[in-house]
Amino acid sequence: MGEGMPTHVAIIMDGNGRWAAQRGLPRFEGHRKGIEAIRRAVRIATEFGIRYLTVYSFSAENWRRPEEEVSFLMGLLKRFVRHDLAELHTNNVRVRIIGERGNLASDIRLLLDEAEQLTRDNTGLTLVIAFNYGGRQEIASAVQALARKVQEGALDPSSISMEMIGEALDTHGIPDPDLVIRTSGEQRVSNFLTWQTAYSEFVFLPVFWPDFDEASFKDAIDEYSRRDRRFGGLSAKAS
Ligand code: IPE
Ligand code: IPE
Ligand code: MG
Repeated sequence: MGEGMPTHVAIIMDGNGRWAAQRGLPRFEGHRKGIEAIRRAVRIATEFGIRYLTVYSFSAENWRRPEEEVSFLMGLLKRFVRHDLAELHTNNVRVRIIGERGNLASDIRLLLDEAEQLTRDNTGLTLVIAFNYGGRQEIASAVQALARKVQEGALDPSSISMEMIGEALDTHGIPDPDLVIRTSGEQRVSNFLTWQTAYSEFVFLPVFWPDFDEASFKDAIDEYSRRDRRFGGLSAKAS
């Protein structure tokens, strides 16, 4: 019974807008503060010895927001990569980006490629940034890739396995999240890591993302450590 430190923590960083509204500020001030919370989360994850940290930064559905907010979020990502990449690299952080890159502006695509290339051999924390990411879209792309192989005669449909699907996803090579944290009190998945969270533990925290700090992170880990993951079997205690 009880789990140790999770290997992979994935975070749905929610509540920037409400954090700002609560203070009578425009929504973008919440997003700006949210960047500081990401820096904190990276530092704490490293201290805790977590190997993989995934942050949901922009969903495939977030294009539905007003244009000014979408372009602010695009600008924020650019500034984050430009400003923080060198320090992440110095801290031995490996950056991976998941999500659809084809329909992003070319300058953003280049920055994301650069972040991955520069840090690819780092051996510390892997920071996975989910940007323009949707779990169902990711599965659809994987299905297309496998279907093309079938069409080329390179793949027998009956040999398509769970492992093969996992390898066709953006997250290939990254273990499934042990723990998913969502801030802001919302209790839904919002198209995040649909395939990968089949057996993840979920912790919903009542703090808005800009207020996420070491105490919040610790609360989520403590809650996780009290869980009993059974994966369909029986708990260690019962067996
Ligand atoms: C999360 O905060 C950040 C993104 C989705 C980009 P929100 O912007 O969703 O904040 P709320 O949910 O409106 O408070
Ligand atoms: C999920 O938050 C996406 C990110 C945190 C990037 P949203 O605020 O977009 O989710 P919904 O719309 O409330 O489900
Ligand atoms: Mg939200």
